[in-house]
Amino acid sequence: MSLKICLLGATGWVGKELALAIHAEADLSLVSAYSRSHGGENLGKVLGVADMATPVFVTIEEALAVDADVVVEYTAPAVAKTNVLAAIAAGRHVVIGTSGLTEADFTEIAAAAEKQRVGVLAAGNFAITAVLLQRFAEIAAKYVPQWEVIDYAGAGKKDAPSGTARELAYRLSQQGDSLKEVPIDQTVGPKESRGADINGTQVHSLRLPGFILSAEAIFGLPDERLTIRHDAGSSARPYVAGTLLAIRKVGGLKGLTRGLDQVMTF
Ligand SMILES: NC(=O)c1ccc[n+]([C@@H]2O[C@H](COP(=O)([O-])OP(=O)(O)OC[C@H]3O[C@@H](n4cnc5c(N)ncnc54)[C@H](OP(=O)(O)O)[C@@H]3O)[C@@H](O)[C@H]2O)c1
Repeated sequence: MSLKICLLGATGWVGKELALAIHAEADLSLVSAYSRSHGGENLGKVLGVADMATPVFVTIEEALAVDADVVVEYTAPAVAKTNVLAAIAAGRHVVIGTSGLTEADFTEIAAAAEKQRVGVLAAGNFAITAVLLQRFAEIAAKYVPQWEVIDYAGAGKKDAPSGTARELAYRLSQQGDSLKEVPIDQTVGPKESRGADINGTQVHSLRLPGFILSAEAIFGLPDERLTIRHDAGSSARPYVAGTLLAIRKVGGLKGLTRGLDQVMTF
């Protein structure tokens, strides 16, 4: 029996690639899709796939009314939390790809998932090299107590820091706060120049043409330095394999899990 999937944001940059990949997997079935601009249409027709009969709905309520096992969220930061809470309330397991959710949002989502006894798997970046950056940075933080993060993205990215950088900061926070020789509030000059404090890590977000999405964790010790960096290319392909893995694993989870590496074997 195949796992039934509802895909929110099925006509987007990631959503399109993911819809095609889910359709190609024998154990997965794309039963419902959500997009405001293609409501009432057939997703197969929108994507040019003859044998795909997935209905596209214009509201989240309609999309969730179709019976599904897993809801996958790839829409926009402004609506992601509402969509995820609606999916949890409907008793669905949820995979969150959308960025921009805050720590307070995740606390709310975790409580809702616990209450409904469903699994939620969120990753700021489902690309394998980004997942490895998180994991390796966490190991480095056990040995090097001072670090900062640089978050690079194209000029048009609205949310900052990126989901990748937020998750990196969250994961580093599990090892403690990065030590600061000069406390940020004692900075001589604009304190903003030291970046944003995200879970005890200073995060610096660059938004410039020429970048796609990169994240860099820099660790410093006297007379030595370690840089761990992930760079994404221009296609959505890197996110598809990781999201498919999350879709298959999320049903075995309860409550909120953050980071794809939590369901990977090392
Ligand atoms: N975790 C990861 O690995 C990863 C990787 C890449 C991107 N992301 C994140 O995933 C999210 C989606 O990225 P994307 O590049 O695929 O976005 P996109 O191309 O803008 O696609 C957004 C999709 O969501 C739909 N949508 C529904 N309600 C919406 C709303 N209120 N506002 C905007 N779109 C809405 C859009 O269709 P309609 O406009 O027809 O409604 C479209 O299908 C972003 O937050 C991005 O940062 C995460």
